[in-house]
Amino acid sequence: MCGIVGYVGPQRAQDVVIEGLRRLEYRGYDSAGIAVVHDGRLAMAKRAGKLANLEKALVEHELPPATIGIGHTRWATHGPPNDANAHPHAGGARRVALVHNGIIENFAELRARIEADDHVFLSDTDTEIAAHLVELQVASGVDLATAMQRVCQQLDGAFTLVAIDAEDPDTVVAARRNSPLVVGLGDGENFLGSDVAAFIEHTREALELGQDQIVVMTRDDVLVTDFHGNPVEAERFHVSWDLSAAEKDGHDWFMRKEIYEQPRAVADSLIGRRGLGGLLQLDEMRLDDDEIRELDKIIIIACGTSFYAGMVAKYAIEHWTRTPVEVELASEFRYRDPIVDNSTLVVAISQSGETADTLQAIRHARSQRAKVLAICNTNGSSIPRESDAVIYTHAGPEIGVASTKGFLTQLVACYLLALYVAQVKGTRFGDEIDEIMNQLESMPEHIETVLEGAEAVYALAREHVGTRSVLFLGRHAGYPVALEGALKLKELAYLHAEGFAAGELKHGPIALVEEGLPVLCVVPPRGRDSLHGKMLSGIQEVRARGARTICLVEEGDTAIEPYADSLIRLPQVPVLLQPLVAIVPLQLFACELATALGHDVDQPRNLAKSVTVE
Ligand code: F6R
Repeated sequence: MCGIVGYVGPQRAQDVVIEGLRRLEYRGYDSAGIAVVHDGRLAMAKRAGKLANLEKALVEHELPPATIGIGHTRWATHGPPNDANAHPHAGGARRVALVHNGIIENFAELRARIEADDHVFLSDTDTEIAAHLVELQVASGVDLATAMQRVCQQLDGAFTLVAIDAEDPDTVVAARRNSPLVVGLGDGENFLGSDVAAFIEHTREALELGQDQIVVMTRDDVLVTDFHGNPVEAERFHVSWDLSAAEKDGHDWFMRKEIYEQPRAVADSLIGRRGLGGLLQLDEMRLDDDEIRELDKIIIIACGTSFYAGMVAKYAIEHWTRTPVEVELASEFRYRDPIVDNSTLVVAISQSGETADTLQAIRHARSQRAKVLAICNTNGSSIPRESDAVIYTHAGPEIGVASTKGFLTQLVACYLLALYVAQVKGTRFGDEIDEIMNQLESMPEHIETVLEGAEAVYALAREHVGTRSVLFLGRHAGYPVALEGALKLKELAYLHAEGFAAGELKHGPIALVEEGLPVLCVVPPRGRDSLHGKMLSGIQEVRARGARTICLVEEGDTAIEPYADSLIRLPQVPVLLQPLVAIVPLQLFACELATALGHDVDQPRNLAKSVTVE
């Protein structure tokens, strides 16, 4: 959570930092701030609310023309989102300014210690203590890098810290533990960012910082050390995303653009997966076949939308591989003493690769000797780096806070994993891999077909302005789709929305049904062993009690028509792959209803894109 930017070079620091913050604002938008050093003095500006508030303040009170600066967009943890709690924070003598992402767990104890020496604190944050401590160190005569090392050794928790010193106008120093930070390498200028979006318009060359590392950055030099000042080798990489991938492409929201990118994202995630003789290959996955054959259980851990992708994965993996699968919320996993050993494969699904709950869960799994496979969209992020193996999804940057193309590409990666395990274990579905891959490869076209029907879904969504509550029903792989559809509506339209397994209705939730309640029903495809008939009974039950049913039904299915107040048609696809098409109208519905309600779709209230605190 929180976005961090740092700059040193020939350009006006204010421009570079504010532009970087704009690209990181999806990480948190409770407040924003900037600090620069000019003529031996610190100048700072910070405002509660979105970046626009800070920009307005900067028009009224311009910062001096500095060429070194740091900036921050905040997602509040300690203290309410007001001006005082916005970053940067300064030490008591206003010599050091510092921004922070993460949580300093022992801040209260450290603060009490120096408050006794008459240090006055101006905020409720855990961050301000770090600014005071770094400033105390530089005041004692050491340079900023040494000061940062000494302070990091005292801190517990997760943090990225970036600091500047009014008496050292050439150097930005940053530290990283359990929180993201990358360095952008320019020509006569250098950059820092929570992710590469902060600086890709200036440079595509980057350095990935490891755990417990400090970077000392001047215009012409970047030195990486550990927390004791010993130089370490940082990994250099080239960023392949271009800036236009981070722009809206003519859509009103990033989210809508990302929904429309889904056919391409799914196609990209399937490229290069079939090798010689049609055998499935997952090149980047570093697990060998013996390890896969010896697996006796798979545990999937994830949060939010990624968790729902994991629920779909359970249906596919168990059906195709006969390997038992548990799906668990990452935030619960390590606190319940799970049974995990070296024949367990833990699969961590995360779009951002930085979700703290998931990261802590994989650390716990590895400490129990389990193998961990990450399914992730963000190259170089913490979760794949700390896993034994990885399957990257190829959604490209997802900027809208609500996940869309991230979810679809996670589903694709889960299907690929399931098929790969089936191939290695030689289950009876091993022979059908070719056929299932053909079906998967036709999914981009089917998603395109669903998108062509968007106007009808939008019209339906606009009819629901004024609705206070919506239910979603599904069965089998359609059940996680119902949960994800409800989550999208909660996040974006701030409505009461709940997803249920339709068979569970009669065990309680049906009491919620009243006259006029909209119920969105994800109807399974017809066919052998299908739950289509049982779903129809559920639809009849809610309709008999006055609900207005909106049914997502495959082409050619006429049995549902008499019981549907509205129909959304889906292409005919196998039940296990249906989530790839069925979620799309639900994403469009939530996006359009939130737009009609006047909400900020890309930055819903109280949320952040990357949740780096537990
Ligand atoms: C919902 C959403 C969140 C994330 C969750 C996990 O639209 O985006 O529920 O899915 O915070 O995030 P990742 O996948 O980055 O670990």
